[in-house]
Amino acid sequence: MRPTIEWRQDRVIMIDQRKLPGEEVYVECADHEQVAQAIETMVIRGAPAIGVAAAYGIVLGVMGWPDDSQREERFVRVYRRLEETRPTARNLFWALEQMRDVFAANRTSSDLAGLQRALLDRAQAIEQEDLEMCRRIGGWGKALVQGGQTILTHCNAGGLATAGYGTALGVVRAAFAEHPDILVYADETRPLLQGARLTCWELERDGIPVVLITDNMAGHLMQKNEISLVLTGADRIARNGDTANKIGTYAVAVLARENGIPFYVAAPMNTIDFSLTGGDQIPIEERHPDEVRKVGDCLIAPPQVRVRNPAFDVTPARFVTAIITERGIVYPPFEDSLEALRRSS
Ligand code: MRU
Repeated sequence: MRPTIEWRQDRVIMIDQRKLPGEEVYVECADHEQVAQAIETMVIRGAPAIGVAAAYGIVLGVMGWPDDSQREERFVRVYRRLEETRPTARNLFWALEQMRDVFAANRTSSDLAGLQRALLDRAQAIEQEDLEMCRRIGGWGKALVQGGQTILTHCNAGGLATAGYGTALGVVRAAFAEHPDILVYADETRPLLQGARLTCWELERDGIPVVLITDNMAGHLMQKNEISLVLTGADRIARNGDTANKIGTYAVAVLARENGIPFYVAAPMNTIDFSLTGGDQIPIEERHPDEVRKVGDCLIAPPQVRVRNPAFDVTPARFVTAIITERGIVYPPFEDSLEALRRSS
């Protein structure tokens, strides 16, 4: 498999995640508008991956300038377009802020090519750092998994959602290397089926045993002692540990608590939004109603039926057993442990 996203000959290439697992096709973006649309339409998705895409989007935006005039205004336009693509994942805004800092540091340089090079360097570093952070998350998190255990995951927090290794699935990969007898249960994750389409696809490709279940089966399997632990990614974590992740995660966390099963969140530090005191401040994206009325292209409800389609929910910190980051594993109270981690840089 080629990487989830890569920079090649002044283009951003990404695997079209809407088409998986049926077809492995790649989308080429030549300007920032194409990157913005790829994020909006979920060609690329997953919090860290959209951060990387947005960083490359900035590079393409600046490369598209016809001349050196109006740098500031043009940069703001490109930045705003990418910023408005998806509201929940902190990593998108974090990556854009990184790129804005590079722009600011080079704003007075008379050399436009130099600015472009500096932006490209930073975008490539963001991609590389994500890969390294995910490997470190896996390195810490594997200690939480024992041989023979079964792990429930929700949505896709894997290589496809990151620069290539995964957060929750990074832990799975690292644990599998030591305990080849672990088993993953993947929630299908309606409405867009990231669990069924993407998690199952990438785990099967790595030879990691996976069983697909529909979202409403998780409670039953927990009650029957068939799940040892839950492991999910995150889109944004408030400083008290409240965690936004794919819709349905909250229900899984409540079920895990009811059944005495640990619920772990795996995420890099740049998913944590220290400006938010609690999860009620996390913006929750509402997506198009047709995603609920249809499965793929097939209508499964009256075409005009009213629909709600929040793409994420917030799991209160009290249901989170631990958060696994690239700097280590932290436990409640998260206000203190996350802050200590932040200062540990
Ligand atoms: O709407 P999506 O597919 O972008 O949602 C993705 C998730 O909710 C993932 O679990 C999250 O981004 C963590 S990815 C490492």
